[in-house]
Amino acid sequence: MNSFETCNWFAYKNNMINGTNFTSYILAAGQGKRMKSALAKPLHKIGGMAMLSWVIKTAQHAGSSQLCVVTSPHAQDMVDYIQNSHETCQIAIQDTALGTGHATKIAHAAMEGRDNPILVLFGDTPLITSETLAKMADAITKGADICVLGFETASPTGYGRLKTNEEGRLIAIIEEADASEAEKAITLVNAGVMALSPDFANSGLQSLENGNAQGEYYLTDLVAIAETQGLKIAYEIAQEAELLGVNSRTDLAKAEAALQDRLRQAAMENGVTLVAPETIFLSSDSVIEADVIIEPHTVIAGRCHIRCGAHIKSFSHLEDADVGNDAIIGPYARLRPGTILGNAVRIGNFVETKKAVFEDGAKANHLSYIGDAQVGAKANIGAGTITCNYDGYDKFKTEIGQGAFIGSNTALVAPVTIGDGAIIGAGSTITKSVSPDDLSLTRAPQKTLGGGGTSFRNKKKAKDQ
Ligand code: UD1
Ligand code: MG
Repeated sequence: MNSFETCNWFAYKNNMINGTNFTSYILAAGQGKRMKSALAKPLHKIGGMAMLSWVIKTAQHAGSSQLCVVTSPHAQDMVDYIQNSHETCQIAIQDTALGTGHATKIAHAAMEGRDNPILVLFGDTPLITSETLAKMADAITKGADICVLGFETASPTGYGRLKTNEEGRLIAIIEEADASEAEKAITLVNAGVMALSPDFANSGLQSLENGNAQGEYYLTDLVAIAETQGLKIAYEIAQEAELLGVNSRTDLAKAEAALQDRLRQAAMENGVTLVAPETIFLSSDSVIEADVIIEPHTVIAGRCHIRCGAHIKSFSHLEDADVGNDAIIGPYARLRPGTILGNAVRIGNFVETKKAVFEDGAKANHLSYIGDAQVGAKANIGAGTITCNYDGYDKFKTEIGQGAFIGSNTALVAPVTIGDGAIIGAGSTITKSVSPDDLSLTRAPQKTLGGGGTSFRNKKKAKDQ
């Protein structure tokens, strides 16, 4: 399965929207200065996934078969990321940030010759939904030359204002820097997303000029150009919540909060019980099946698969882990990447697992580290067991057979194999493999001095006097 299929959010939404096929231009060449980050802004993550990937996957889900991301020449990290994670996406470089219209022109040149609707999206607006994008593309299929996405807001400052005529038709978008006081009072604003017919993209983008307050080529000027040419201008209205643009770390936290709400909602609608959902953090790439119960203060990160009937108790942290049916995890468990748990496995408090396979019914209930290990069905690992998998240079594997019993406070020095049904005595340091059904222990002999406690105390008291 690829990440698109395993993504919890898109998996929940299952099928592609059966709408218009369109081409996406994703503008992401801005500097993102307010993030104060060495990382390109669209690569910052929400729900464990880069904002850019949210935009790309949402567009693909809505029916975009071709995509082009516009980046700056200084964002090598973004080029590498797109080539590794979205190999079907084209990349166009905008040498100087001369405005959204200029960036769109560069994408259009890179994607020459397409004849389906074009959607212009921003790399820092990750919450936009596929339903909204599909509506925009449909407007073009239904005959509009240009379709703008707007929303009503109580605080329009900074946004382009949607200017309508007496009949309520959109005739222009006025940028904040160019707006009169009367225009600034308009509360219907431009979200940034725009849909264009391929014909109008060919002619309109060529007509853009930069004679405005910011000296930029504004994409938004396409509306006035379409109006003077008597073309059909449409606009759609969306909810402000899905149009949050991320410019700062504060915005990033707001976007994360909004996305977490969506992921929790999707999980609950799919039959997952979230006890105190607001304290549970989910990742977009995790799949959580029906009848899983997740208790408060739990983090499900990366690509987890939590299967039907599993119970994740409070304060557990799971990352890239596969949890079997009816398994019981935690409280206070940590499942690290490469953990694969069979049915009805139990991982209890303060147990850490990494690259560890537990077959059906195996248990590690207390205070253990199990890494680079294979644990057979119904094996029982006692409190304080450590797989000593690392010598400072290399990692080694521990194999524990079916039904084996590892006594408490045991160090298993890998590479080592404990056979099926073998028993390890508590407190052992096991360096040699143990055959099936053998009992092995290492233990310093216990010495008892009769009355030794009393004589020790008497000696101490005599010294104090
Ligand atoms: C833009 C819109 C404004 C709208 C607002 C919504 C224009 C002229 N204005 O303004 O009407 O209300 O978005 O958030 O379109 N970018 C490039 N190259 C450039 C300039 C920008 O790739 O030369 C990218 C940025 O990385 C960003 C997006 O385009 O992803 C938007 O640019 P930004 O500068 O944030 O536009 P706004 O001034 O917010
Ligand atoms: Mg902006």
